[in-house]
Amino acid sequence: SRKKIVVSLTVPADLRERLQNEFDLIDLPVGGNIDDVVPASDRAGIHGLLGTLRLKVDDALLARYPGVEVVSNYAVGFDNIDVDAATKRNVLVCNTPEVLDKAVADLTLGLMLCAMRDMVRGDGFVRGGKWMKGALPLSTDLAGKTLGLLGMGRIGRMVAARAKAFDMDVIYHNRKKDEAAESSGLARWVEREALFRQSDVVSVHVPLSDETTRCVGARELGWMKPSAFLVNTARGKVLDEDALVEFLRERKIAGAALDVMTVEPIGADHPLCQLDNVVLQPHVASGTVETRRAMMDLAVENLILGLRGERPRALVNAGLWPRKA
Ligand code: GLV
Ligand code: GLV
Repeated sequence: SRKKIVVSLTVPADLRERLQNEFDLIDLPVGGNIDDVVPASDRAGIHGLLGTLRLKVDDALLARYPGVEVVSNYAVGFDNIDVDAATKRNVLVCNTPEVLDKAVADLTLGLMLCAMRDMVRGDGFVRGGKWMKGALPLSTDLAGKTLGLLGMGRIGRMVAARAKAFDMDVIYHNRKKDEAAESSGLARWVEREALFRQSDVVSVHVPLSDETTRCVGARELGWMKPSAFLVNTARGKVLDEDALVEFLRERKIAGAALDVMTVEPIGADHPLCQLDNVVLQPHVASGTVETRRAMMDLAVENLILGLRGERPRALVNAGLWPRKA
């Protein structure tokens, strides 16, 4: 009989058709509660979940849905899923790496430019009719400055490559040295404290985990130069946001540019929105037509392959493969 899946993502018609050809679909509005759309008596009969970061998959959910074989995340990050719990229950967890790397790296450079070249203020200056009355304060060059990458995965490397085109010097801190980056002259590994002390702009590219939660706090911000900027396109919870607000308010660092916050979404009353030295984006680093389509293709493909008993293209808990009977 056909497998049943819960879909908490609006997919284009052609992808929906692909899913419907193989499975029975149950729709869950993004941000909704899965138990509201699946009656208790049907829960054991659900085989797959396809959703966004807003679909929290913990051990309790997997216990209520013991038939789930695959959880396919429409994101590269998977901090919304308890991967250890899934692995113990033999549930494949899939994500969408690589296809979004360039879009995220592009937005990271865009945020650096906005913050360092003061572009948002410039826009308001023209629209506000202030150009007629004076000049905008001078901003900061990227060329010749040191970019410090906290994390050097695929996205970090793409940010480094883009920064080189802006004639920046790139250093990074990662648990492992990136030998290819070192030998090609792309970036130099430094100790953690040196990264914060030496950088003119620090950009965060680590996944969120227990280890990285609030790993940039008052101590790390205190190591930064007063002239330095902080960029975050990774996860809000990697930063101690209260400490960052305080450092920005007191101008102990020059500015920040953030695509992600500790709790999302935030409203206009959020402390970050009261600051004039931060540029904010609504978690859209991967949010282009082309990239989101590629992410959907991959998320759907992962789910279909996994439920057919074939290896998904992007498997987070790769130790579950090959499948044991
Ligand atoms: C977005 O935040 C992602 O993890 O893909
Ligand atoms: C992080 O930078 C990744 O792409 O894994």
